[in-house]
Amino acid sequence: MSEQTRAGRTAAVIPAAGRGVRLGPGAPKALRALGGTPMLIHAVRAMAASRAVSLVVVVAPQDGAPEVKNLLDAHSLPERTDYLVVPGGDTRQQSVHAGLEALPGTIGTVLVHDAARPLVPVDTVDAVIAAVRDGAPAVVPALSLADTVKEVEPGEKGLPEPVVATPERARLRAVQTPQGFDRDTLLRAHRTVAVSGDGATDDAGMVERLGTPVVVVPGHEEAFKVTRPIDLVLAEAVLARRRANDGF
Ligand code: CTP
Ligand code: MG
Repeated sequence: MSEQTRAGRTAAVIPAAGRGVRLGPGAPKALRALGGTPMLIHAVRAMAASRAVSLVVVVAPQDGAPEVKNLLDAHSLPERTDYLVVPGGDTRQQSVHAGLEALPGTIGTVLVHDAARPLVPVDTVDAVIAAVRDGAPAVVPALSLADTVKEVEPGEKGLPEPVVATPERARLRAVQTPQGFDRDTLLRAHRTVAVSGDGATDDAGMVERLGTPVVVVPGHEEAFKVTRPIDLVLAEAVLARRRANDGF
């Protein structure tokens, strides 16, 4: 049996149903332009750039699935890949779950990738897939931190917050996407792990709650999440640098 058959085919689920409140007023974040192209299209291309990815499932804003379908049709995308659009939910966790339930049975490996990380390089995507195919049920790309992190006791707004602990920085990692999973493991996590409030912001964290081991592989600085207005400035600069490099 080939590697590909044993691990099943690989799909990428892209949650893109968020509003982008922290980015400020405007269109839903995933539909905003970067270098003239919607962020979501960059993210879809980043996943489809991996030859291992045979299906991309985009999770659209709840009433935005037709618009997102039109958007995919209007942009050039690799033809070896299939594309599917499903409506999302109120939280990221619900949106990812909706995408997972839409996967056909032939998929054995699944990536979950934020539409808000449009510039992740294909080498990072391939490294995550390779680690899952080598037998890890859950793989997370991550970077070490530049800033020291403090744990605080959040208090009344505007008042100084007491520090509770300072975790050793060298042992901390900031996690990115795409996170890669054995499909059955992630589906089980989403079907069984209840998370209160705004839900899980991290799929690997749900797998950890099953007691299943999660491993970290090197992430990439260009896989940063576009969250606040300054991130748009950085993303445009990265794109401009890529264009300049391509020109030579
Ligand atoms: N997401 C989603 N469904 C939701 C909320 C978020 O699919 N109900 C997606 C976002 O579209 C994004 C990813 O999850 O691609 C990461 O979330 P985040 O960066 O927090 O994006 P938003 O929720 O859109 O931003 P904000 O929290 O600032 O509103
Ligand atoms: Mg959010």
